[in-house]
Amino acid sequence: MEVTLKIFRFNPEVDKRWHYETYRVNAEPTDRVLDLLEYVKGYIDGTLSFRRSCAHGVCGSDAVRINGMNRLACKTLVRDLGDKITVEPIMGLKVIKDLIVDMEPFFENYKKVLPWFINNSPLPADGKERLQSPEARERFDDTTKCILCACCTTSCPSFWGSDDYLGPAALVAAHRFIFDDRDEAAAERLQIISETSGLARCHTAFNCTMACPREIQITKAIGELKLATITGRLD
Ligand code: SF4
Ligand code: F3S
Ligand code: FES
Repeated sequence: MEVTLKIFRFNPEVDKRWHYETYRVNAEPTDRVLDLLEYVKGYIDGTLSFRRSCAHGVCGSDAVRINGMNRLACKTLVRDLGDKITVEPIMGLKVIKDLIVDMEPFFENYKKVLPWFINNSPLPADGKERLQSPEARERFDDTTKCILCACCTTSCPSFWGSDDYLGPAALVAAHRFIFDDRDEAAAERLQIISETSGLARCHTAFNCTMACPREIQITKAIGELKLATITGRLD
C-alpha cells in the first residue's frame, strides 16, 4: 500500500519556524511507523531526526504523536492507522530537532519523587535478602512496568499548562515505591507529591491512561496515592 506520511520538521540551525514535510512511501500493513521513519531517513532525507533504540517497545525512547495520539513508533502498525499518517513530537517539552524533544524537565520531575529503593535497616539475620510475599509484591506490580517513555505526561493537559507539575510518570514511579512494603521512605514521598506541583494538579483527565503503551492503570494509581495522602494508609 502507498502511505502518505506527514512529518513535523524543525531544524533550529536553519528554520525560523517549524513546518511539515510530506513523503509518499510504500509500506506493508504490518510495518511499524518506526520502519517508515527509518525508510525516510535511509532513502529520502538523511537529516530527519528521531530517537529510537530497542525497536521492540522496551526502551521507551521513540514516543511521538501519531495521528494525534501519543504512541511508541515501534509498536504502532500501519494497518491500525490507514494510509494517511502524521507524526509529530510529543507535546509540552521543547523541540530540539524534528521529532526529538528535550526530556530533561521530564526526568527532573521523575527524580523529585526519589525513584529508588530506600531501606536503611539492617539486613535480615541471614544477611541475604528482604523477603516479600507475593500478595505484597502484587500491590505495586502494575507500576513496575513503566519504561519512562513520557507518553503519559506529555498527553496530560495539566502538564501542558505548567511543566512544574510532576506529571503522571513521576507519580507512577512514586506509587511503585510507596506501596512497596520493603521501602522505608513512603512518608517522605507522600509529602513530596502532596505539594502544590503534585497530586493536586491531576484533574482525572485520563489521557495518561489512554496513552500508556504498557497499559498501566495510571489514573487508578494516582487515585490510590490521593487516598493514601488523605488516610495515611498504604493497604
Ligand atoms: Fe510511558 Fe506508561 Fe511509564 Fe507513562 S507510565 S512513562 S506512558 S510507560
Ligand atoms: Fe493528567 Fe492523567 Fe491526571 S492525564 S490530569 S495525570 S488522570
Ligand atoms: Fe525502544 Fe520503541 S525504540 S521502545
